[in-house]
Amino acid sequence: MTQRVAIFVSGGGSNMRALVEDMTGDHAARPVVIVSNNENSGGIAWAKGQGIATEVVDHRPYGEDRAAFEHALDAALAKHAPDIICLAGFMRVLTAGFVSPWQGRMLNIHPSLLPKYRGLHTHRRAIEAGDTSHGCTVHLVTPELDDGPVLGQATVPILPDDTPDALAARVLEQEHRLYPAVLRRFASGNTNRLDL
Ligand code: GRF
Repeated sequence: MTQRVAIFVSGGGSNMRALVEDMTGDHAARPVVIVSNNENSGGIAWAKGQGIATEVVDHRPYGEDRAAFEHALDAALAKHAPDIICLAGFMRVLTAGFVSPWQGRMLNIHPSLLPKYRGLHTHRRAIEAGDTSHGCTVHLVTPELDDGPVLGQATVPILPDDTPDALAARVLEQEHRLYPAVLRRFASGNTNRLDL
């Protein structure tokens, strides 16, 4: 049976787009909804242009009340009955209340070779640490931030004189290869780790 995928996005949505564009032909999954906390997300505009359903749940009216925000997210999501959630540059931390029911069915992409550099500013931190390689990770989401079983990683070199922006661009290219490749396998039941 076709797996129904919801993709969560906050910004430009280039990873979302790579995932959507791969879900054709014999892929076991199809995108059913793009969800964002930001109505101005480029990802939302693109999805609308593709005729994919969208849901915007602005976090701001909820202030510190994460449970109420997540309740609204859940209600928006339920209309589309997804089987899998892919976080793709979704910039809100989700609490255990939201994540726990989805454990094993929610994926995230993070721009570092986890367990190194959870959180933000990963490219700058890798350069400042003097690392010679960096990359990205697709993992199953658990209530701990940027934690959970690794489904795949892609590695890039850190070059002499690299800037965080130059490194980020090199990593993003690999994100666009890794995430679709991992989702394709995951949707067909293959959870073996993929290294690119
Ligand atoms: C990516 O680097 C992703 O790993 C990070 O945020 C960025 C999102 O980029 N969490 P995009 O919105 O997919 O273009």
